[in-house]
Amino acid sequence: MIKSKDVLTLDELNKKEIEQIIDLAIKLKKDLKKGITKPLLKNKTLAMIFQKPSTRTRISFETGMFQLGGHAINLSSQDLQISRGESIEDTAKTLSRYVDVIMARVYEHSTVDSLARNATIPVINGLSNSYHPCQILADLMTIKEKKQNLDGLKLAWIGDGNNVCNSLMIGCSKVGISMSIATPKSFEPDSKLVKQCKNLVDIELTQEPEKAVTKADVIVTDTFVSIHDNPKRIKSFLPKYQVNSKLMSKAKDTCIFMHCLPAKRDQEVTSEVIDGKQSVVWDEAENRLHSQKALLVSLRI
Ligand code: CP
Ligand code: NVA
Repeated sequence: MIKSKDVLTLDELNKKEIEQIIDLAIKLKKDLKKGITKPLLKNKTLAMIFQKPSTRTRISFETGMFQLGGHAINLSSQDLQISRGESIEDTAKTLSRYVDVIMARVYEHSTVDSLARNATIPVINGLSNSYHPCQILADLMTIKEKKQNLDGLKLAWIGDGNNVCNSLMIGCSKVGISMSIATPKSFEPDSKLVKQCKNLVDIELTQEPEKAVTKADVIVTDTFVSIHDNPKRIKSFLPKYQVNSKLMSKAKDTCIFMHCLPAKRDQEVTSEVIDGKQSVVWDEAENRLHSQKALLVSLRI
């Protein structure tokens, strides 16, 4: 059981809690492959609020709740009275009387903060403009499966210092993975967060992708245009920040490639890399299911 009621950035979890969730996720994955499912969340209901589209988050949470013996309700914000002006605060209070846990994908991070403050039940951030904690639980699980350990590895982030990068810094710094982050100028991750995470591990900020990937065990990128971004920003990234075979060859031979998906092929990553031998993106996507099940059973619901 984790101490925090909510998981909004990943900073709510300490090192031990993150490691316990990852280990439980690996166990739940093995059990599922053997056909073993336990109704650990029997009769529990998850409300999923989506202000933005989703493939993986929606399907993995809904499937996860089903496999745990519970139930999930998919709520586009268009379908809720929020669309007619009901407040987030009142929505949180209402949902708390029906369901056991809320997962919300939102634009402004303050929206999940407000949901969490006003709900008496746990709230999980399923992505905001600033953070994506569930993705990082799946990513750390995937790295542990592929590399057996986390502490002491080097991860290179290439491209946009975005919501995924922010939560990744939090997660990596807690489990002892150092990071080198290559972004164009003014696309760096949150500077206050960089400072905070630097107290725990080495975090290098650079504008040179080749420098970032030197001796890297893991290379990660994400779209250059997040859901909330202006598409015009793409010109700041191409061609320099694309992960291609040439860039991959500058890292360790054993380096793996990760991407939270959805990918824009031949923009932030070439098809050759995402479909190549070093890519683990499909395991990473699958692990959203297992790690979120582990998170759900670790919450006080
Ligand atoms: N990685 C991720 O969150 O995917 P979706 O946007 O499809 O949920
Ligand atoms: N950074 C991306 C992640 C999508 C899962 C976005 O916010 O659109």
